[in-house]
Amino acid sequence: MTRSIETIAAHGGQLINRIAADRQKQDFLAQADRLPRVQLSERSLSDLELIAIGGFSPLTGFMNQADYIGVVENMRLANGLPWSIPVTLPVAEAIANQLELDSLVRLDDPNGEFIGVLELSQKYTYDKVHEALHVYRTNEDKHPGVKVIYDQGEVNLAGDVWLLERRPHPQFPTYQIDPAESRQLFQEKGWRTVVGFQTRNPIHRAHEYIQKSALEIVDGLFLHPLVGATKKDDIPADVRMRCYEIILEKYYPHDRVILAINPSAMRYAGPREAIFHALLRKNYGCTHFIVGRDHAGVGDYYGTYDAQHIFGEFEPGELGITPLMFEHAFYCKRTGGMATAKTSPSLPEERIHLSGTKVREMLRRGELPPPQFSRPEVASELARAMQAIAQSESNA
Ligand code: ADX
Repeated sequence: MTRSIETIAAHGGQLINRIAADRQKQDFLAQADRLPRVQLSERSLSDLELIAIGGFSPLTGFMNQADYIGVVENMRLANGLPWSIPVTLPVAEAIANQLELDSLVRLDDPNGEFIGVLELSQKYTYDKVHEALHVYRTNEDKHPGVKVIYDQGEVNLAGDVWLLERRPHPQFPTYQIDPAESRQLFQEKGWRTVVGFQTRNPIHRAHEYIQKSALEIVDGLFLHPLVGATKKDDIPADVRMRCYEIILEKYYPHDRVILAINPSAMRYAGPREAIFHALLRKNYGCTHFIVGRDHAGVGDYYGTYDAQHIFGEFEPGELGITPLMFEHAFYCKRTGGMATAKTSPSLPEERIHLSGTKVREMLRRGELPPPQFSRPEVASELARAMQAIAQSESNA
């Protein structure tokens, strides 16, 4: 008899589903014109979706004050469960004042379309600088994540939410694999161990190296590029997804890899976001999660391995997903392959590594990154896309 394969438990024990059932949806639609409205930012919309599909389990709504304070100050929800990034619904005070507690609020997407419902249970003000210093380790508004906090409303609305319905992603419908489905897929494939990979950049050979090093010791690789809001100068998600399609076709074993979109918004919170990213992938059913150099970092705000060290602040087993940590990977001229300082005795001048900024500059000048940095098929796709973007910007 074959034993059925069990996926790991969601964070908090139960995979949350806050997508309205059909009758409930009809009920909400019937009230649509009478309910007070809040228009969601792109980030809040993606947070709502992630709560609804269980990506943020155990959250069933936007955080109340006790959870918010626990998360900001101690990386824990009020019940003690680890959680590292606030998931809040900030609005302007004038809007908050019009809303009554213990009533339903209609949530509209950034285009004004009715998308979900909030069962408003609490409104509270919060200290933006305090949040920035704890979560982002800086209060500088040059930090793109901190800037979002400074620009958002002063009052957080809290309460459980419902998403009216789960619609296909407008750009990547075939890659929209929600946690219940990814868990099912892993089971069908017989994968007992699955490593999740977070990314917001075009795939390069150091990514490929750490993904494949991880895949050597687990059953499956869950490639999960972030397609929610990113800062303006990051490469657009459609270009990054095309690069993945191209590289998977030729360079990856098809039966060991699943490519799916991560709909969340990028915070650039470095260490705190690494924990958040790991918990998100646990909810998708991953048992392991890759944390490389300066994970989710930006500029010089975080030390190269801060996002790895932060895992040491939790007891073993508390997070329920195993981080796989990798040192800075590069192409090593001496050994003729990808390596890290852990596996190659090469001198710094024998190592080829390019920063994302450097690559963007090269592409803007029409130069291709070298094959030691990027697979040639990916390099030419990037060059093509960057030239098209430059062209449309100069026409605008
Ligand atoms: S991130 O903001 O989503 O972390 P990116 O897409 O660049 O950015 O990184 C995805 C993952 O690959 C992260 O875990 C990051 O630490 C890791 N990584 C990126 N480049 C390297 C590298 N040269 N060596 C080791 N790890 C890397």
